[in-house]
Amino acid sequence: MKENPKSKLIRRDFFKKSAAGIIGFFGGGHLNIALGSQNNFKKPISPTDSNWSVINSQFILKKGITYMNNASLGMPPINVVDSVRSGYEKISKEPLHGKHKLQDRINNNVMPLLAKTFNVNKEEIILTRNASEALFLQTLGIVLKEGDEVVLSTQEHPAALKPWVHRESKDGVVLKYVFIPSPLVSKRDVIDRLMSAVTSKTKAISFCHVTRGGHKYPVKEIANVARRKGVATLVDGAQAVGQFPVDIKNLGCDAYSASLHKWILAPAGSGFLFVRNRSKNYFESPFDLKASTVQSYFNPPGTKDYPVRAAVGAALNFIDKIGLENIEKRCRYLSNHLKNGLKKMKDVKILSSDNPKMSAPGSTIFEKSNLDALESVKIFEDKIGFHIDEHQRDGHNAIRVSTHFYNTTSQIDLLLATLESI
Ligand SMILES: Cc1ncc(COP(=O)(O)O)c(C=O)c1O
Repeated sequence: MKENPKSKLIRRDFFKKSAAGIIGFFGGGHLNIALGSQNNFKKPISPTDSNWSVINSQFILKKGITYMNNASLGMPPINVVDSVRSGYEKISKEPLHGKHKLQDRINNNVMPLLAKTFNVNKEEIILTRNASEALFLQTLGIVLKEGDEVVLSTQEHPAALKPWVHRESKDGVVLKYVFIPSPLVSKRDVIDRLMSAVTSKTKAISFCHVTRGGHKYPVKEIANVARRKGVATLVDGAQAVGQFPVDIKNLGCDAYSASLHKWILAPAGSGFLFVRNRSKNYFESPFDLKASTVQSYFNPPGTKDYPVRAAVGAALNFIDKIGLENIEKRCRYLSNHLKNGLKKMKDVKILSSDNPKMSAPGSTIFEKSNLDALESVKIFEDKIGFHIDEHQRDGHNAIRVSTHFYNTTSQIDLLLATLESI
């Protein structure tokens, strides 16, 4: 492939390396397109639009690798890589001025973009290093006394569970775990199971918008019923944001924690916490007992990772340029392709629902008889350079394949053929 002298991507040494990665990615036989310049693509109008190939050229994945583990950590596009790099240059060349410039960008660009993307007021949202930090803040912050009850599902991530276990031993809060089956039976079943554990002592329900295994919970319905009973709803949105449009205001929950370094493709070490303004009295600030705004309640004081936070803006712009509705359609198209292939294999049991209301578009979990999921991760990497993950929890020996919009049906076909052969 010839170098394009005008391309910003390949002007510097660093990006020469990046370009090699891109060429490798497309030289792998899955796609065959020219190297695109940064953000030089049109909004795709369908899941098979040729613009997806141009969008795919924005990634610098190492040659020989196919990435299908986005639910663990997203793969940032080149404009995000570039933004982090230029942020570090700023604070390295002129530390204090650089910090102020980045802080301005975070306040005037990133926070409004974040608020717009999730339909919240920017005063109700703070940036964190990840979803775990946000989950700790919301769980350790809610005011509870000994004997108060909290309802949790059995499908929580340890990052959501740990702070509750802390509250249990420190404050005598009673945790009531509700078993939720994989795949989900129905929206009604999830609501009924959670609500049947609610008593007059219940103060909060804590659950995922999308679980690690890709099950999608009816957040709005749960929040509605809970609000009528005076019960707070604290949501873990780590696996939801970036796979489909999320309107947090409309969901009606009291708090919502998320990662930005998964499906939004922001740099590693980025996430956010939302607390509804009218719900802030449910909480006590760990930082300032006189706190009056959501920001002052929850924003940890001190020096921040400015280049990473400022680069969240590049990721949000990239996602916005593609469109979250388009991302959802493309992810659904790819996971349907995967599920259809899996359905033809007699020894495979799919644990993800076919119903889009109960499954996220990008993550699929399944078991194959006599195949240890943990071992399969290594087999796929060694045999064909595919990065996938295991889901050995909730009593399952499942494999998790999390495909984002940058994956292709031919990659999925190769995954399926390999699965059949092992
Ligand atoms: C459902 C869920 N919650 C929370 C987390 C923790 O996310 P983070 O690494 O951003 O803290 C994860 C990570 O995989 C997750 O899947």
